[in-house]
Amino acid sequence: MLQIIDINKSYGSKKVLNNINIDFKPGESTAIVGESGSGKTTLAKIIIGLEKQNSGEILLNNKILQSINKRYFETCAKIQYIFQDPYSALEKNFTVLQTLNETVTICKRNNYDYMSIEDCIINVDKNLLNYLDQKVDILSGGQKQKLCIARSLITKPKIIIADECTSMLDKKNSEEIFNLLNKIKQEKNIILISILHEVDFYSEYWDKIAIFKDGNLLEYSEFKNFYNNAKNIYSKELIEAFKFFKYKGDQYE
Ligand SMILES: Nc1ncnc2c1ncn2[C@@H]1O[C@H](COP(=O)(O)OP(=O)(O)O)[C@@H](O)[C@H]1O
Ligand SMILES: [Mg+2]
Repeated sequence: MLQIIDINKSYGSKKVLNNINIDFKPGESTAIVGESGSGKTTLAKIIIGLEKQNSGEILLNNKILQSINKRYFETCAKIQYIFQDPYSALEKNFTVLQTLNETVTICKRNNYDYMSIEDCIINVDKNLLNYLDQKVDILSGGQKQKLCIARSLITKPKIIIADECTSMLDKKNSEEIFNLLNKIKQEKNIILISILHEVDFYSEYWDKIAIFKDGNLLEYSEFKNFYNNAKNIYSKELIEAFKFFKYKGDQYE
């Protein structure tokens, strides 16, 4: 279990996270939703240890998560981050095999039990096995993001944080990636945290939803109940905007 307890964070005089509390459970996916600048990525960075909170604690299985320079390799390896832009998350001159091998080498150096390259590719898309000797650069956006997900599986993570990981992809590829992340969540009983700045309230990918605005957690509920039972004014506005665009979109389909 990953517990976010009373987390506060400011940059200078700007308060970016205001007393955030959330529990994330294994086998549960949470959509963190909020407009740009609402503090979503900052929270993710605090979880992975790249930023330090001003106050509050993060507990992983009841142990305090320290900032990254004080974390054991194993703790870092158990929390994987999927970036928004798969193009810059990958070394474009590397082959697919070199990309994955780099992480395997780090695991070996740390005597860490890793998932084989073949297994992690089969987990995401076995077609990628045909690209092992190809440069990453020739992959499509969707394939690149799948490769990033395959790479994240090498360390057998307990937590995957996907930060707007489909915002560079079209609808079909986005759905494929969300399906894939959900399959992994279920099969491996991981905590999946998906940061979104827009959400399809009809989708069935998420168990929980957390609405962020201006550094505040406004609402946190079961995803399936949210659409009909949202309490917060801002949450209701998000739903109305979704309905409006959905209707407009349908008109032109
Ligand atoms: N390193 C930083 N220094 C100063 N301000 C920052 C830094 N990182 C983020 N911020 C500010 O913190 C706020 C929240 O940013 P962020 O967590 O990236 O939001 P989101 O991911 O929801 O778009 C924004 O106003 C942003 O400008
Ligand atoms: Mg962000």
